[in-house]
Amino acid sequence: MTLDDQIHRLVTAAMARAESARDPEELESVRIEVLGRKGSLAQFSKEFGKLPAEERPGAGKALNAAKETLESALEARKQAFDAAALDARLRTEWLDLTLPAPGPRPGSLHPVTLIQNEIEDLFTSLGFAVLDGPEVETEYHNFDALNIPPEHPARDMQDTFWLTDGNLLRTHTSPVQVRGMEKYGPPLRMIAPGRAFRNEEVDASHEHTFYQLEGMMVDRNVSVAHLIYFMKTLLSAIFRRDVTLRLRPGYFPFVEPGFELDVQCLICGGPGCPVCKQSGWVELLPCGLVHPSVLRMSGIDPDQWGGFAFGLGLTRLAMMRYGIDDIRLLQSGDLRFLSQF
Ligand code: DAH
Repeated sequence: MTLDDQIHRLVTAAMARAESARDPEELESVRIEVLGRKGSLAQFSKEFGKLPAEERPGAGKALNAAKETLESALEARKQAFDAAALDARLRTEWLDLTLPAPGPRPGSLHPVTLIQNEIEDLFTSLGFAVLDGPEVETEYHNFDALNIPPEHPARDMQDTFWLTDGNLLRTHTSPVQVRGMEKYGPPLRMIAPGRAFRNEEVDASHEHTFYQLEGMMVDRNVSVAHLIYFMKTLLSAIFRRDVTLRLRPGYFPFVEPGFELDVQCLICGGPGCPVCKQSGWVELLPCGLVHPSVLRMSGIDPDQWGGFAFGLGLTRLAMMRYGIDDIRLLQSGDLRFLSQF
C-alpha cells in the first residue's frame, strides 16, 4: 500500500469515529489518538525520514492535507456538540422577557389607622397636641396617679398583664393624660391614640390588645358644656352627620362627675331597632370632668384649673364605622381582610 493510501485510510477511519462519537470527551480522545503528539499522524511523520528524497515533498503535502482535513472535521463536530449543549440549556433555562411583570402590590392603611388619622386631623385643627406614651407603664401612671390606689376595686375592672419587674402593660391610654400633665402643665389640650392591653379571653368581641384614643383638656373654667361641645364636634365628624348625644352618670375614679356618653341610634334615629337593642341609644364613650385629686397629683392646682377627659374605644369605633363584626380580624394580618380598606 502506498503512503497516500495509508493516509487516506487513516483519515477515513478517523472521520468515521469522529462522526459516531457520542459526546465531546469521546471526540477529544479521537483527536488525541490521531492528531496528538504521539498520535497516528505523528507516527507517519517519523516514517517520513526513511522515504527517498524525491518522494518527500509529495508525502509532506499529503500529510499536511490530511491533518487539515481532520482538524476541520473535528472542529466542526465539536461545534455541533457545543451548539447542541447550548440548545439543551436554552430549552430549560429560558425566560420570557416580554411577559408583563406582576408589579408591586400596593399596601393600604389599617381601618384603625384610617379612623385614628381622621380624629387626629380633627383635634389638631382644634388646637390639641397628639401625644404618645409607653405601652409598658409604671403602676403609678396606669393606676395611682389616676386616683386608683392599690386596694381600689376599680383595679379589678381591668385584668392587668403584670410584668415581673413591677411594671405592667398599660390597661388604657389614660396614663398618657398623667404624662401630658407632668410634662406640659396647664393649659393643656391633648389626645393620645394607642394600644392598650387586658388579660381577656379572646372572642369575636374581646381582644387582649385593642386601640383607644384618650383626650384631655385642662384650662380655666372648663365645664361639662365644653365636654359636650367637643364630643358633639368629634362624633358629628366621625359619623358625617349631625348627631344627638346624651350623658348618663358613669363611674371612673379619675373623673368627677363621670359619664357614659350615648349617641342617638344612627340606624333607627330613636324609636328603637336591633342595633340599639330597642333603646334608641348606642353607648359610645366614657368621659367626665377631671377629678381634682388627679390634677393635684400631677402638680396642677384644682382651684385654678379644671378639665375634661374622655376615652374613645378606637377599635370599637372602627368596627362600627366599617361594619366589622369580629374583632379578631383586626389583628389577623389577613390580607383578604386588610386589602378591602
Ligand atoms: N380609661 C378608661 C377605660 O379604659 C376609659 C375612660 C373613662 C377614659 C373616662 C377617660 C374617662 O378619659 O374620662 O376603661
